[in-house]
Amino acid sequence: MLSKIAVNLEKNSYQIAIAPNLLSKIGEYLKRLDIGNKIVVVSNSMIFDEYGNQLIEALKSAGFSVSYHIVPAGERHKTLLSVQKIYDTALENYLERSSTFIALGGGVIGDMTGFAAATWLRGINVIQVPTSLLAMVDAAIGGKTGVNHPQGKNLIGAFHQPKFVLIDPDVLKTLPSREFRAGMAEVIKYGVIWDQDLFQQLEAAERLDELDYLSLELLQTILTHSCQAKADVVSQDEKEGGIRAILNYGHTVGHAIESLTGYRLVNHGEAVAIGMVVAGKIAVKMGYWSEEESQRQDELITKAGLPKTVPHMLAIEDILETLKSDKKVKAGKVRFVLPESIGKITITDQVPPEIVGEVVKECQEKG
Ligand code: GLY
Repeated sequence: MLSKIAVNLEKNSYQIAIAPNLLSKIGEYLKRLDIGNKIVVVSNSMIFDEYGNQLIEALKSAGFSVSYHIVPAGERHKTLLSVQKIYDTALENYLERSSTFIALGGGVIGDMTGFAAATWLRGINVIQVPTSLLAMVDAAIGGKTGVNHPQGKNLIGAFHQPKFVLIDPDVLKTLPSREFRAGMAEVIKYGVIWDQDLFQQLEAAERLDELDYLSLELLQTILTHSCQAKADVVSQDEKEGGIRAILNYGHTVGHAIESLTGYRLVNHGEAVAIGMVVAGKIAVKMGYWSEEESQRQDELITKAGLPKTVPHMLAIEDILETLKSDKKVKAGKVRFVLPESIGKITITDQVPPEIVGEVVKECQEKG
């Protein structure tokens, strides 16, 4: 059970490999790449305690010279200060232009390590080894790297594609259930925006709310289809000049909810799930999408154990105001990514704020 997916770019194309027990084989894969001999593995202590030794042994037995750097866990450490400390380790270990960072962890580690790689010596290699479902299907692929500014998430960043992405589903065994479900939100997103077949396979599954209910085959299918969708989109539009924006489906209202609740009440995947419910209903109201398909989407969200209602304490005016400061605003107009049918999406800035307000109100939990 090995899936290989190509991310085809003008320059710097790369592969994603997905298979159980791949972590122990990483040396074989990396030996074939032109990535120098020196590697620094960046991780947090929880992930490193679980998987660090296995990874380092596999790299050493393939002849690499390996050191590691531990970053404290959590989004609040995704800062320039943490990146500065990664640079210190790079300096201590005499990394060269041909050397490599490996990001072993979730999205925070991946984004931060990617950014350190983009900037150290004007750019060294990075290999992504994602350990959360969310990072496997989204953050590790596509080269968006960055850190947070005190005024906002991911305001500092660079595009820097990895040389290789290695996905070993075995590591999901230690992922907390809530994080697993957060990743499922992005998986459902790919079904809606890109891949009808994936959507139907998710519909056919008995349960999607815990890893334990998924067969190895279904998990492999979910990972392969999701990564393929992301690779297809990124291959067509590496720097988000156009179609890549469809990956933001559910993220417009989702980001507003995350930001207004201080990034604590709901996690990213949960916010995206609520955002997809809202976007789906907007698409129905605007005449883009059928009620029937929008309900099928919402049923999948329920099956994945994800929330569908906007937290009751949020004022609708605040949500509308926050949408205006979204990164996706162009010439003062909020851009919405809306489904037309399952697997097909459109982008529009023609949604009247009144419709957004009405739908958010309909979707708000009763206080
Ligand atoms: N996470 C959205 C993107 O990579 O474009």
